[in-house]
Amino acid sequence: MTQRVALVTGAMGGLGIAICQELAKAGHKVVASYHPEFDKPEEFKKLMADAGFNDLVCVAGDVSNFDSCAAMVAEAEAKAGSIDILVNNAGITRDKMFGRMELGQWDAVIATNLTSLFNMTKPVSAKMAERGWGRIINISSVNGLKGQAGQTNYSAAKAGVIGFTKALAAELAAKGVTVNAITPGYVATQMVLAIKPEVLQSIIDTVPMKRLAKPEEIGGACAYLASDLAGFMTGATMNINGGLYYQ
Ligand code: CAA
Repeated sequence: MTQRVALVTGAMGGLGIAICQELAKAGHKVVASYHPEFDKPEEFKKLMADAGFNDLVCVAGDVSNFDSCAAMVAEAEAKAGSIDILVNNAGITRDKMFGRMELGQWDAVIATNLTSLFNMTKPVSAKMAERGWGRIINISSVNGLKGQAGQTNYSAAKAGVIGFTKALAAELAAKGVTVNAITPGYVATQMVLAIKPEVLQSIIDTVPMKRLAKPEEIGGACAYLASDLAGFMTGATMNINGGLYYQ
């Protein structure tokens, strides 16, 4: 297979690590984008090395900041080469019932989970189109489809991710660049395990498979969407949610 360069945002979170590992297993060179205040690149590199993945590059930046993303992409290109695969995975939650949600909690989630797609995709998509090959994979959420009480901010941002995906897919379809979204259900990561145990249990009870997703079940889908075999798939929303919600 052709080795390609894959940049993953939010690479050092639970889902990000699995995405990096599955892309590395598929033979790609991984560029792990992380937030310098919240992530620990040394721990990440050790975890990846212990799993047998040594050939990776780490770049620090803030996906909610346009200039920071441009600098991060430039650094990634200088260290690893042109970006062929972009996985927009970075995301946060600031869960609150709407009546109690503050503007700062709304703004933070929209900026990190949605505006980040503009910021990160802008410096890579035109170059992918010029080269005639590219993969943009956006991590949305089941809650962007069904809506989740306590997550007006997150559900709005993740629904926006799907609209962005479909529109950009239409723009880039003739250029060899595919743009797809994955809508994971509840995955066994820190983000989900931070939900109060009794609330989380009530959510799991509503999942037909009665379990959380394993992070690699999402990472594997990214590897597929990044592959040549997925070349005819664009503008799609891939639901991976244990049967929790059907569109
Ligand atoms: N539907 C409607 N109303 C609900 C509700 C629900 N599912 N859950 C709670 N409420 C109501 C309560 O009855 C309560 O009403 P009153 O004030 O009238 O009594 C009110 O909302 C406040 O509820 P809580 O006491 O639970 O409030 P809280 O501040 O302790 O917690 C919360 C609010 C943080 C949003 C909590 O309910 C929660 O964690 N919910 C789960 C949110 C969730 O699913 N987050 C997903 C995070 S993981 C992720 O996002 C990844 C992904 O992509 C899936």
